[in-house]
Amino acid sequence: MLPTKPTREFVTGLPKAELHLHIEGTLEPELKLKLAKKNNIDIGQSTIEDVKKSLEFNDLVSFLNVYYPAMEVLQDESDFYELAMAYLKKAHQNGIKHTEIFFDPQAHTARGISFETVIMGLSSAVQDARAFGVDASLIMCFLRDLTSESARQTLEEALPFADLINGVGLDSDEHHNPPMKFAQEFHTAASYGFNLTMHADVDQVHSIDHIREALEVIGVQRLDHGTNILEDPDLVDFVVQKNIGLTSCPLSNSLVTKNNGISDNKGKELIELLNKGVKMTVNSDDPAYFGGYVVDNFMELIDNNGLTSEQVVQLAKNSFEISWISDNQKELYLEQIEAYINDFIE
Ligand code: HPA
Ligand code: ZN
Repeated sequence: MLPTKPTREFVTGLPKAELHLHIEGTLEPELKLKLAKKNNIDIGQSTIEDVKKSLEFNDLVSFLNVYYPAMEVLQDESDFYELAMAYLKKAHQNGIKHTEIFFDPQAHTARGISFETVIMGLSSAVQDARAFGVDASLIMCFLRDLTSESARQTLEEALPFADLINGVGLDSDEHHNPPMKFAQEFHTAASYGFNLTMHADVDQVHSIDHIREALEVIGVQRLDHGTNILEDPDLVDFVVQKNIGLTSCPLSNSLVTKNNGISDNKGKELIELLNKGVKMTVNSDDPAYFGGYVVDNFMELIDNNGLTSEQVVQLAKNSFEISWISDNQKELYLEQIEAYINDFIE
């Protein structure tokens, strides 16, 4: 029998993929202080408590205002390596077998760090994580509050490293920055063979219009967040038919919705969409900022939304099914899930 109420142990041991994780959002206070010291950067914080006190936000913009300045401590290739390796070890402890990691090149190139420094540090860690059984790839995100010209330049800078990058995404402040602003750059990225995804952050102004543009005009393969899709049944049908997955992040949702007075993990919407046959997944987004890694995000839904063991298993299967790995790899991971639950049933 699967556990009636899924335990942390059950969720941890279940093979999973993570598909919505910003590497810069895994910068834990300890590492931030260590790198600030090493690189001689005055961040105005000297203790873990100081750093934790700075984590005050209640919507997407106030979060981003804390998030970007923190990246200043990342200076050389070894810093990016250390950041990514720390996350990949956490991923391993969380039972993650495969992870597709977002990074924001413009957040670094804009402050004088080369694209090469960033990608070489991150990809060395990706390479080394194979030794402990975590398979990973990298997704480059454009910052949507910068210009489309800046995105175009970033895409050009990425081309020499195209073998190390699996896809292109879009993040940062969605307000006044619709998908269409980057239609040309996404079209070019697709023509180079990159997979496409895009943030559709929760409860944004013009959310549904943005989701429609992302799906129908740009042709993304996944939507990051995207639960507002429930407001339009035609779009729900569209994602079911096209097998488009959504990457939800419950703990992140709770924190960025505080501003409207009702902290909402969007678990209800996630379960409703799951029941309608949408390929929903659970992810951690920016775990150092939102209070937990992927298992914590599952536990949030188990404890507060009554997520069942069967639903946990379905979400784990979905995470491999909508990932950007080969069909053979997908089959192997799905077999691992079957073997894991069979052991429980026996
Ligand atoms: N949304 C937009 N930008 C971001 C996010 C997010 O969830 N995380 C890091 N940058
Ligand atoms: Zn995100």
